[in-house]
Amino acid sequence: MAQPKFTTHLGMTDILPDETPQWRRLEKIIHKTAREFNFEEIRTPILEQTELIARGIGELTDIVTKEMFAFERGDDHYVLRPECTAPVVRAFVQHHLEQRGGTQNLYYLGPMFRAERPQKGRQRQFHQFGAEIIGADDPAADVDMIALMMTIYERVGITNTQLKINSVGDPESRKAYKKALLDFFRPNLEKLSDISQKRFENNPLRILDSKEEEDQPFIENAPLITDYLNEETASHYARVKKHLDDLGIPYEEDPHLVRGLDYYTRTAFELISPDLGAQDALGGGGRYDLLVEEVGGQPTPAVGFAAGIERLFIACKELDINLSEPKSVDIYLVTIGDNARSWALKHLSQLRRNSISATMDYIGRSVKAQMKDADRENARYSIIVGDNELNEGKFTLRNMKKSEEQSLTFEAIVDKLAG
Ligand code: HAM
Repeated sequence: MAQPKFTTHLGMTDILPDETPQWRRLEKIIHKTAREFNFEEIRTPILEQTELIARGIGELTDIVTKEMFAFERGDDHYVLRPECTAPVVRAFVQHHLEQRGGTQNLYYLGPMFRAERPQKGRQRQFHQFGAEIIGADDPAADVDMIALMMTIYERVGITNTQLKINSVGDPESRKAYKKALLDFFRPNLEKLSDISQKRFENNPLRILDSKEEEDQPFIENAPLITDYLNEETASHYARVKKHLDDLGIPYEEDPHLVRGLDYYTRTAFELISPDLGAQDALGGGGRYDLLVEEVGGQPTPAVGFAAGIERLFIACKELDINLSEPKSVDIYLVTIGDNARSWALKHLSQLRRNSISATMDYIGRSVKAQMKDADRENARYSIIVGDNELNEGKFTLRNMKKSEEQSLTFEAIVDKLAG
């Protein structure tokens, strides 16, 4: 086949008609589960102010320094959102959602954009579903958030997952820990990778996230954040674990789990799948108790998660889980001649008004070719409409699967199929 003149950008994919049914099925599961957990949907613009994202996620993170699709127009600085937590918090502050009372339990679905190097499970436009509880400090909120995330995977049929948790501390614990880390890495600074040497200056916690081989022996022996938690933060973390135990949600503590976004405080978690390869995080999240204030609101604790939809489908494929239903149509009107075609067009709408999905030939195919097309469309029934049928007012309704036929008026066909 000839090379097409235009193609999608690197790392951006079309979701084709053979794939949309599984997306819709997943979206249905997400909406239903979120409803049962009493979450409300929020939709924010794809474009946000660059400063919101830079301040929200952290000026020194990989996302902000290397991966933003950003541009200017006049005095305005736009960025394609790389994630949705900062936008949701912005919406919470902008619209004073706290005035609705209680906690704001919000969820979302949609495309996110990061200019990363594309590989399996890593795209430049990808989709997330996620949820945030804004206004709750209690560990019960952290755990309900994890439960929502895991319930969605369970309902999809992905159960072979591993939940990793950690506490990344509050600012006080983190200050003490940062000092311990600096003291630990300083004597071996020149043995660390370039990227870790940079992080040493800016954000030593992120050294723990390094995948560079030369860093690993040092990371293995580095002090652990969990040894530096103050009493309040340690107690919060202990209660998160207790609730997870009570709910029977298995987890593994990973004291090296530091997430790639700077807003996290206290609880951090990630859901890993062995079916994903190198990019093995299905989803992740945690607490971000300082973000609402950072974005200009009143101090408000919050916790949330987001999960990658493309990665979920990669796991489905590995596990032979098929969420899509084969396409089908209730009835195909096979027409012979112009009279029949105008009649069919008119009567299609009557069928559809009765919630019967219906289609016809638009390109003047022979009867044989139309029957073949009805098969390809996976039609449950077909009728042949010609001058004889129109004169008699009776049509042969063919059950395509069973190859059974019945002679009926059009009204009787509508009654049968609608019933
Ligand atoms: P995140 O870990 O950056 O967290 O992204 C969450 C999930 O999005 C990842 O686990 C992964 O499944 C998917 N993902 C991220 N980048 C890509 C990519 N380039 N291609 C494909 N999938 C990707 C957040 O975004 C936070 N907003 C989560 C959160 C919500 N924290 C608190 N509330």
